[in-house]
Amino acid sequence: MIRFSNGHTFEYMTASGALSFDGKGWLWEQPWRWIGLLDPTLFTSVTKTLTLRPTEGNLRWYNPFRCLRLVRGGVVNAVGLSNPGIDWWCKKIGPSLNSTKIPLIVSIFGEPEELAEMAGMLNGFDLAGLEINASCPNAETYVLQDTARVIASCEAVKTNSRLPLILKVSVTHDISQIVKGAENLVEAISINSIPWAVAFPNRRSPLEILGGGGVSGKIAQPFTWGLVKKLTELTTIPVIGPSVWDFDDLEKVRSLGAKAVSFGSIFMCHPWRPTLYVRKELKQRV
Ligand SMILES: Cc1cc2nc3c(=O)[nH]c(=O)nc-3n(C[C@H](O)[C@H](O)[C@H](O)COP(=O)(O)O)c2cc1C
Repeated sequence: MIRFSNGHTFEYMTASGALSFDGKGWLWEQPWRWIGLLDPTLFTSVTKTLTLRPTEGNLRWYNPFRCLRLVRGGVVNAVGLSNPGIDWWCKKIGPSLNSTKIPLIVSIFGEPEELAEMAGMLNGFDLAGLEINASCPNAETYVLQDTARVIASCEAVKTNSRLPLILKVSVTHDISQIVKGAENLVEAISINSIPWAVAFPNRRSPLEILGGGGVSGKIAQPFTWGLVKKLTELTTIPVIGPSVWDFDDLEKVRSLGAKAVSFGSIFMCHPWRPTLYVRKELKQRV
């Protein structure tokens, strides 16, 4: 369980990209909601990442599989930062948050000054927190791989925001330096997908023409879970454990030190599983 300074607590999170910009899920996920096999109210949801200006990224709504491959035990994606921009979110999604029972965390990406501006714009909304995506494997700019900039991003957001902050890191970051600088700024750490070249250095990515993409899911566990373990040894900042695929994974990732778990690409391959697992676990505890 993670408890934020604003009193919000959570054990189960949905990762950015899993349930759209409002935590209610993408259009293709709605049939699972209608039949009761996907219940977004069980999770604290992180929105798909937003940027200050609309960003095209690699996603084309008419052909999602251009930048997405479902593989055995995971997903390779090169979606990038496709999103309609923060203004759109503030007009279309933010005002109706009170009517949903889904605690929402907004994921943001950009230069420190852009992040500061976005954090300010989000202050008026009823959010559980913010997440800085400092680790998109498909972003055109790699400036946020730079430790000093990651810390500057956290500082910029904290200066302009009243909300608790999650920092989303990559296996490629200099993690020991980052956690030192982030200690008093962030209230939790999450972990992004693994760049293809790191996961499979000797194999050609099915998304080679889009830069290789990021690897998520069970096949990413050796990397993402390795990072969970390393982080929990390095810092007292609570770590959110990703790459849950089977029910047993909940306990496995907690045993490495994760204080909450997140469901990401599992929604793409098995959209009913996160709801099933949470219900099962809550029932077992009664
Ligand atoms: C299709 C897709 C889109 C994603 N979009 C984002 C995003 O916009 N921002 C972000 O921070 N992470 C994004 N991610 C990464 C996930 O949030 C998550 O960190 C990653 O998949 C690792 O977790 P998992 O192994 O549990 O899936 C995306 C992942 C996928 C598969």
